[in-house]
Amino acid sequence: MNPFLSSALRPARGDDLDALCQLELIGFEGDRFTRRQLAHLLNRANARTWLAVTDKGALLGYGTLLFRRNSRSARLYSFCVHPQARGTGLGRRLLAALEDEALTRGMQRLSLEVRADNRVAMGLYRRMGFLPRRWLEDYYVDGCAAWQMHKPLSAAAEASCEPEEAAAATRFG
Ligand SMILES: CC(C)(COP(=O)(O)OP(=O)(O)OC[C@H]1O[C@@H](n2cnc3c(N)ncnc32)[C@H](O)[C@@H]1OP(=O)(O)O)[C@@H](O)C(=O)NCCC(=O)NCCS
Repeated sequence: MNPFLSSALRPARGDDLDALCQLELIGFEGDRFTRRQLAHLLNRANARTWLAVTDKGALLGYGTLLFRRNSRSARLYSFCVHPQARGTGLGRRLLAALEDEALTRGMQRLSLEVRADNRVAMGLYRRMGFLPRRWLEDYYVDGCAAWQMHKPLSAAAEASCEPEEAAAATRFG
């Protein structure tokens, strides 16, 4: 059986920091979080990280949500699957767990920024119901642009997003 299919999802703990640092190193080509930044994310009251782990506890992926006081919108701040586990549906499962977390906390919308040249991530987000909302020129340190994408988590949020998203979706395609 594919070992990645039997992986478990769970919230991150403080002692996951070493594994997160390692994954950050091999999972991203640039723009990586430092150990200090990752430690901060694990300890922030307004952040929540979910992990995908093997049955032996090895880290296969993580995603972090940020919440803001008095806001019904959560932000997907970081999201990464181990290179050897990609294409097995783990990203999709992890994202679904993060959406559940946001819903449980009463969020109405999930937003994220993704590099304009990251076809795989954008494809996944679009298939999971995210819509491109805003083009952000020169967003990353290397000058690459980003798409800001939103996913309404409730019918009320969906109704309030429609006009702007329709315009952005045309540009995106
Ligand atoms: C983006 C990322 C998290 C996706 O994780 P993943 O576990 O590979 O995602 P999944 O296996 O759930 O696949 C999601 C979809 O992408 C497709 N896909 C995965 N890898 C692909 C590839 N290399 N080429 C084309 N399509 C691919 C899958 O077929 C799947 O499509 P489906 O939903 O129609 O079945 C992962 O590629 C990654 O960690 N990339 C580096 C870090 C990154 O870019 N993070 C996002 C920052 S915004």
